[in-house]
Amino acid sequence: MNLLILETTCDETAAAVVNDRLEVLGAAVASQDTLHERFRGVVPEIASRAHVERIVPIIDSALRQARLSLAALDAVAVANTPGLAGSLLVGLAAAKSLAVALDLPLLAVNHVHAHLFACRIAFGEAVFPSVGLVVSGGHTSLFRCLGPLDFQWLGGTIDDAAGEAFDKIASLLGLGYPGGPAIERAAKRGDPRAYRFPRSFVNDATRLDFSFSGLKTAVRYQIAVTGTAGVVARPLPEDEIADLAASFQEAVVDALVAKARHALSRTGLQTLLVGGGVAANSRLRERLDELAGNESVRTFIAPRELCTDNAVMGAIAIERYKAGLIESLDLDIKPGLMRGNPKASSSEFIPASRATVSE
Ligand code: KG4
Ligand code: ZN
Repeated sequence: MNLLILETTCDETAAAVVNDRLEVLGAAVASQDTLHERFRGVVPEIASRAHVERIVPIIDSALRQARLSLAALDAVAVANTPGLAGSLLVGLAAAKSLAVALDLPLLAVNHVHAHLFACRIAFGEAVFPSVGLVVSGGHTSLFRCLGPLDFQWLGGTIDDAAGEAFDKIASLLGLGYPGGPAIERAAKRGDPRAYRFPRSFVNDATRLDFSFSGLKTAVRYQIAVTGTAGVVARPLPEDEIADLAASFQEAVVDALVAKARHALSRTGLQTLLVGGGVAANSRLRERLDELAGNESVRTFIAPRELCTDNAVMGAIAIERYKAGLIESLDLDIKPGLMRGNPKASSSEFIPASRATVSE
């Protein structure tokens, strides 16, 4: 079976062809970094317009790599949640058009779950059961992963996501966009112990939540001009930028590793999956490897090329196909972010405007 997968949840336009043995036959990603760079963040309207221009050439590119024609496809899958409304609509419209024109089954992909399925693609069935940690631009969430279709919410950020914090601090330090790779580069020259920034809730094993807004504020005050309201940054020498980047990165990594450990001990599971753009970070990967070395924990970290947004990870849809979970043409987008619902110990969707604690 050959599955065509489309991914347009945020600012990457991606398509992949994967077969039911999870072999990647073709994969293409068009990044929009250069379009959003000067705004130091994703501008939703620019993202959706770029998806419209790019989706057909990207599908074409994935099919060419796979040396397959449209007639060789058996199903089409699309990430329809979570994400930016306008962006999600482009992928969904393209997927529905193909499903109708080619008379193919339509499958839905949850983008956050797909980030963890990247580990299943790379490492096989041994990845379940496990705790899954998703660290991306919009999400920092922990799941109990009993199987590819059984992800139970354990906790997540109550304000910014880890990737979002990287992007905002990079912007504050005058580093490039996207912020994660820029901070990682600067941090290599810095001292992670130069500043002691806060690590929220790390000593509270009863909370599987994250918070990065206090950390962001702490960095902001560190670089503010003394005696001002805290919003005026002073010109920063290179070595101070490197120390700030390294100390900030260490605080984020400490919080992520501490909460992953708490989730493992809370659930009694011994396997940890990690996916999402921030999982590409070398310092985080190093610390997760140490965790696996020191304790009876197995860690499966998505390979770097499957960490940042891509369509290959959407092969989780094959599991839905096998389970008979085919969508009707009424399938809609579910935009926004997945955030915890403490009362129900489950997740709920909230509109992006309420989901992010702004500056
Ligand atoms: O998973 P992803 O590509 O998109 C979302 O689903 O949000 O994640 C993008 C995020 C961005 O915030 C980016 O700054 C961050 O991942 N990121 C990194 C690194 N590479 C990407 N953060 C830290 N270190 C990196 N090397
Ligand atoms: Zn993502």
